[in-house]
Parts: sequence; structure tokens; C-alpha cells
Amino acid sequence: MDLPPASAPVRRRPPTNKAVLAAAEVFIRQYATENPDDGDLRRRLAEVTAEVESSGTYEHTPGELAFGARVAWRNAARCIGRLYWNNLIVRDLRHVTHSDDIASECFEHLRIATNAGRIRPVISVFAPDRPRRPAASLLSEQLVRYADDPRSATRTALARNLGWKGGETPFEVLPLLIQPGPGLGLTPEFYEAPEDTVLEVPLAHPSHPGFADLGLRWYAVPAVSDMSLEIGGVTYPAAPFSGWYMGTEIGSRNLADSDRYNLLPAVAELFDLDTRNERTLWRDRALVELNLAVLHSYDQAGVTIADHHTESRRFLAHVDRERRHGRPVPTDWSWIVPPLSGGATAVFHRYYDPEDPDLRPAFIHRPQGQCPQPGSTA
Ligand code: ARG
Repeated sequence: MDLPPASAPVRRRPPTNKAVLAAAEVFIRQYATENPDDGDLRRRLAEVTAEVESSGTYEHTPGELAFGARVAWRNAARCIGRLYWNNLIVRDLRHVTHSDDIASECFEHLRIATNAGRIRPVISVFAPDRPRRPAASLLSEQLVRYADDPRSATRTALARNLGWKGGETPFEVLPLLIQPGPGLGLTPEFYEAPEDTVLEVPLAHPSHPGFADLGLRWYAVPAVSDMSLEIGGVTYPAAPFSGWYMGTEIGSRNLADSDRYNLLPAVAELFDLDTRNERTLWRDRALVELNLAVLHSYDQAGVTIADHHTESRRFLAHVDRERRHGRPVPTDWSWIVPPLSGGATAVFHRYYDPEDPDLRPAFIHRPQGQCPQPGSTA
């Protein structure tokens, strides 16, 4: 993360009324097409137009918000888990604007999503940006992240700069970092997650008793919080969303990548693999053992997790179903093919509809400048 200094306050250029109206019309029409029983299109278009002309923005109905959030998931070209897009639980928290309240609702999000291990997909949508009045946003990459994950180095430093005292031991959960909206001060706030909100799984291997001694663990709910939700010309900068994990995200990337926890050498040693020569495929064998441990441990703990073979088949079922509805499935092959045994999964052997960067509703990475650098907390 390269971030500009915090002293430059958050300034997103407000879109013109014309741009908002054009995006709104496309969305309101799409909503009407896919929800033909909900209201009168012509009347709704007139209402939205009048609202934008007088205020520069407009308010989604609860139905539009839920549909918009679900379609943003459906449009997410990098997500293999889209079969269940229409079951997303949408929490309408547009009235919540103060950082303290945003933090408590984020923690409530984790409780609802965790559901004692039977993970449910959830999004919490906080107040949208208004013209010249950007709303509060989350600086955390996910609601749960670990302080010693190299990927979190900048945020860990920021938390410490703000006065957080933790982060001395492995796998400590980072506090939630929130950038308040304008008028509430520009200094980010940090909030430690209450004990009961972060379910974690200690990792053990189904047949190697020594694996547990590595002291590894991971959390149950991946909740992405550094993207904005854009629906019909309205931007929701605080809209954390979560599903359940696919094992390879943890076993092949988070714990294995050399710029993350870099654990392949340690696993190879535990399994006594010959690491002197690439052609023993020790990396590949260590990857399989690590992934086995992840799936096994989540199963043992009663925490929902998908394996990449099953999730690949579900994704192709999703592609088929969308085709029957006459809708394209924009897809990024390089993200959909799992980072383990790619060619042994069904998603490898074909191409997909191209991505369209202008497609909305969508989750969009917030422009940098949203996250202050450690050291400059003004
Ligand atoms: N890949 C990210 C991680 O390992 C999580 C992204 C969202 N994943 C999901 N299964 N919903 O933390």
C-alpha cells in the first residue's frame, strides 16, 4: 500500500448531476427489469430525477439497496463464490454515521456472519457519500486481519501510531481502523474487536500430530472492508461484505506466499521433505499438506469452508444459470482458477465473458488517499 499523507483530507470529486442521473437511470431500469412487481418505473424515474436535480444525489429504497448490493456481488469478476449472490444478507445501516457506531455495527456484522460457525454471507451498508460531503470509511483491509501478517504492515504501524499497544505476539487481531466522515475530525479511530466477535480456528493436520505445534491459526470470516459499493451513481464507501473461505485462500496464499506467512519451508521440514532440489516437488507436497490441514481444521471446528473442487463446480453451475437468464458472467480467469491444482478443477478448461470496468453495481477499490500513512495522523 503506497499512501499519500493524511494531511490531505479525503476529497473525492463529486460527480456532476448529469453523470449521477445517467447512472441512476441505468440502475433504476435494471431494477425494474429484474423486479417487475415492485412499483412503477416511470414514477420512480421522475422521483429520482427531481431528487438529483435538487440535491445532487438520491436515496435508494431498501429494495433497491438490497438488489444493488447483491448485483455488485454477481458482477464481481474475481469471485468464484457467486452462485449464492441472491442470498446475501443486506444490513441497511445508512443512518449510521459516527465511527463509534460504525465500529459496533461492524462487530455485530461479524457475529451475524459467523453464526456459530455456519457462516452466512453478509454486507453492512453505512451512509453514502454526498456531494462535497464524503462519508466515513473503513481503513482496515478486512474486519479481521492479523498484525503480524506482512500484508498488514502499514495498518499495523498506523494502529500503533494511534496508540494501539498490541501486536507483540503471532496472530494478534488488528483493531478496526475507521476514517471518520467530514466534520468529525480527520484523525482515524481504532477499535479493538470484542472477544466474542472473532471466531478463529487452530490448525492441525489429519495425520501428522506435530503440525499443531506450529501454532498456526486463521479466522473464520473473510470480510472485505476496503472497497466502495457503487450503485446507480451513489457511492457507499463503508460497506464491508463477507462470505465464507475457500481453503486455498488460506492454505495456498495467506500462509504460503513468500511475502505473507511464507510457511512452505517449515511445513516441508515437518514432513521431512527433501528441499535441496526443486524436482522433489517439496513445495507442491507442502502446499497439499497445508491445504489439507486447513480444510480438516475448519471441518473439525464446525466452521464453513469450501474446497476448490466443489467451489469450481458451483461456479460453473452459476455460469450456466446466468446464461439461462440471458446475463453475462464477467470473469477474471486468473482469479477464478484456484492457486492449487488449477488444471484439476473444472474452471481451468475454458474462457469466460470479459470484464467490463464500467459495469455497475460493483465493488470498487477505493482510490488511494483514503488511508492515511502512519506517522501523519493529523
Ligand atoms: N482472499 C482473502 C483472504 O484470504 C479474502 C477475500 C474474500 N474471500 C471470500 N471467500 N469471500 O483473506
